[in-house]
Amino acid sequence: MEKALSKTWSERFDKGLNPFIEKFNASIEFDICLLEEDLDGSIAHARMLGIQGIITKEEAIKLENGLQQIRKEASDGLFQPVISDEDVHFAVEKKLIELIGPVGKKLHTGRSRNDQVGTDLRLWLRKRIDEIDMDLERLQKSLFLLAEENLYTLIPGYTHLQRAQPLSLAHHLLAYIEMAQRDRNRLKDVRKRVNISPLGAAALAGTSISISRKITSSELHFQDIYSNSLDAVSDRDFVVEFLGASSLIMAHLSRLSEEVILWASEEFAFIQLTDRCATGSSLMPQKKNPDVPELVRGKSGRVFGHLQAMLTMIKGLPLAYNKDFQEDKEAIFDSVKTVKNSLIAISILFEEGLIFRKERLNDAVSSDFSNATDVADYLVAKDIPFREAYQLVGRIVKISLEEGILLKDIPLERWKTFHKFFEKDIYEKLLPSSVVESRLSTGGTGFERVKEQLFSWRKKLFN
Ligand code: ARG
Repeated sequence: MEKALSKTWSERFDKGLNPFIEKFNASIEFDICLLEEDLDGSIAHARMLGIQGIITKEEAIKLENGLQQIRKEASDGLFQPVISDEDVHFAVEKKLIELIGPVGKKLHTGRSRNDQVGTDLRLWLRKRIDEIDMDLERLQKSLFLLAEENLYTLIPGYTHLQRAQPLSLAHHLLAYIEMAQRDRNRLKDVRKRVNISPLGAAALAGTSISISRKITSSELHFQDIYSNSLDAVSDRDFVVEFLGASSLIMAHLSRLSEEVILWASEEFAFIQLTDRCATGSSLMPQKKNPDVPELVRGKSGRVFGHLQAMLTMIKGLPLAYNKDFQEDKEAIFDSVKTVKNSLIAISILFEEGLIFRKERLNDAVSSDFSNATDVADYLVAKDIPFREAYQLVGRIVKISLEEGILLKDIPLERWKTFHKFFEKDIYEKLLPSSVVESRLSTGGTGFERVKEQLFSWRKKLFN
């Protein structure tokens, strides 16, 4: 009969696991990336055991040195857990006992893998949130520098993907900087709930050992500790919140990507893709494809999927720890990788992957009826009620379309037949630059307003 005592289970077990089940059950293949945090958490726990007199000071030092030794061996590629180690927590404990002998068996005093894994995951995610914040800032900076160069570059603005009113290109890019700022604020808020220590909740009910949760919490720079041990080991709200915030980041990136894809098409031709971020076709020699934004647009689905998976995973779960929670790791790891890579790729795209075609943009804003609202506003300034002016301009547009001319091509005498208030200065009002310049309401695309926005973003991003 195979004895399972090589494993960490108690003597309650006689037989080893079925090999398929052993692999199915194991998380070591992916949770090994929590190693740093597992060591940090264990060192904090060991120190606390020493401070509390649960183990001797010397034993605490031995544990800490052994754990640091594992860190060193891992960085030298010498720590290589196997499937039978099951997870990173067991792998570390086993290695520790190998390294320092029986005193290693004291590490797990007053602790369970349930509070341990929650601690590791929070420590890991806290770092990644800070990294993603920096990635978002990089994207904001890349967009900002382009915006600053393009205050007076005009681009058609759309509603329903139909030409609506011309915009300052800077205004358009600043809109994405605003979205990224909301993403950063959301992550900052999620971080508050990631930054709470479950350590010391033990398996579910707390422990009879005289541990100090305050000591481990402050050692690990947590902001607070969970008040309820059951909640501590079974809360995965922060995972869902993080994936919600990540999903919105990906949604924003997918919108930006879609615009770049449209702009790069022959139909829009607002940008040219540089060789740095575009690929060719294996068959069609003339092709230059916007793979980067397409990939990012496509990858958004993975993160939305992980969010859905986690909501489904926690739904209906009874208290407290359930093995279902092991599933949270791959969802988080893949989402973090996807979000970070997408943010960096899109930043590079805006730093060196595209060039705005100013002549095309200029032609675009000069050859449509996106100045029609301004004709109505012209009459409004002369005290014609807006709805009346709107009806009249609609008629003028209809006639112009039938005649194949633009508003700027209508002779002054003709304008006068439409309304006696039209004067020579109507031509000035029809210029795309005047149209943009005049939108001076707060938050509008008027150059003066956009200039103020650029000024305030420069201060926020580069100070
Ligand atoms: N690998 C496990 C996880 O990822 C660690 C916690 C296991 N706890 C337990 N009671 N089986 O969730």
